[in-house]
Amino acid sequence: MNISESTALVTGANRGLGLSLVRLLREAGCKKIYAAARQPAELGAGVEYPVLLDITNPEQVTAAAAQCHDVDLLINNAGIAKFTPLLAALSTDNARAEMETNYFGTMAMCRAFAPVLKRNGGGALVNVLSVVSWFNAPMQGSYCASKSAEWSLTKAARFELRSQGTRVIGVHAGYIDTDMTAALTLAKTSPDDIARRILAGIERGDEEILADERAQALRAELLGDYGPFEAAMQQTWDRSRPSH
Ligand SMILES: NC(=O)c1ccc[n+]([C@@H]2O[C@H](COP(=O)([O-])OP(=O)(O)OC[C@H]3O[C@@H](n4cnc5c(N)ncnc54)[C@H](OP(=O)(O)O)[C@@H]3O)[C@@H](O)[C@H]2O)c1
Repeated sequence: MNISESTALVTGANRGLGLSLVRLLREAGCKKIYAAARQPAELGAGVEYPVLLDITNPEQVTAAAAQCHDVDLLINNAGIAKFTPLLAALSTDNARAEMETNYFGTMAMCRAFAPVLKRNGGGALVNVLSVVSWFNAPMQGSYCASKSAEWSLTKAARFELRSQGTRVIGVHAGYIDTDMTAALTLAKTSPDDIARRILAGIERGDEEILADERAQALRAELLGDYGPFEAAMQQTWDRSRPSH
C-alpha cells in the first residue's frame, strides 16, 4: 500500500504511539488523516480531521464509520493496560476493562470498518498488538490475555476479509516509551521508531509487523512457521463461503 495515496484513521491519536503514527503519516504525505480520540480537544491544533471516538461506545463507533467513509487504512491503536495479575487481582474489574477495550473495542472497529474498507478498494486494517499476544507475563496477566484475544481476532479478520482485498496486519512490539509504561524502568523503544517501522511494514504489504528487536527475537524463539497451517485454514474458510 502506498501511504501517500491513502486515507487513514488512527485511534487513540492524542498521545503515545497514536500521536507518533499521525505525525509520521503526515510526514509520509498521507492524503488525509482522521485522528480519533476520546477527548478530541487533546488532539492539538495541527489535526485537520478530528474524530470523537471511544472504541467501547457502539454509537461513537457507528458514527465514526459514517464520518470516515473514505478510509482505506484503519489503524486500531487505542488500548489500555492495568498492570495487574489475573487471579491475584482484587477483582475482575481490570480484566474486564482490558477485554472491553483491547478485544471488544477493536472487534467493534473491525466490524464497523470492514464494509468501509471494502467500498474503498480493500485497503489495510492494522491492529496494534504486543509481544504479550504470544505469552503471558503474570504481573500483567489480564492485559496479556486481552492482547492474545486481540491477536486471535486479527487472524479471524484476516481470514474473513482476504476475499474483499483487505490486508489485515498485526503489529507486535515490546516496551514502548509512552504513558502506558511510564512507571516501568526498563529498556523501551521510542514511539516514533515503532511508528516508522509500522508504516514501512504497511508499505511493504507485511501481514505481521515485528516493530522492535524484542518482537523479532521472541517471534523466532516462541513461534514457528504457521503460514502453511493458516493457508489451509484460509482454504477451509473460502470453501465454506462459495459466494464470496
Ligand atoms: N507502551 C507499550 O509498551 C506497548 C507495547 C506494545 C503494544 N502497545 C500497544 O500500543 C497501543 C498504544 O499504546 P500506548 O503505549 O501509546 O499507550 P498510551 O500512551 O497509554 O495511549 C493509549 C491511547 O489509547 C487511547 N484509548 C484508551 N482507551 C480507549 C478507548 N476506549 N477508546 C479510544 N481510545 C482509547 C488513549 O486515550 P485517552 O488519552 O483518552 O486515555 C490513548 O490515546 C496500545 O494498543 C497498546 O496496548 C503498547
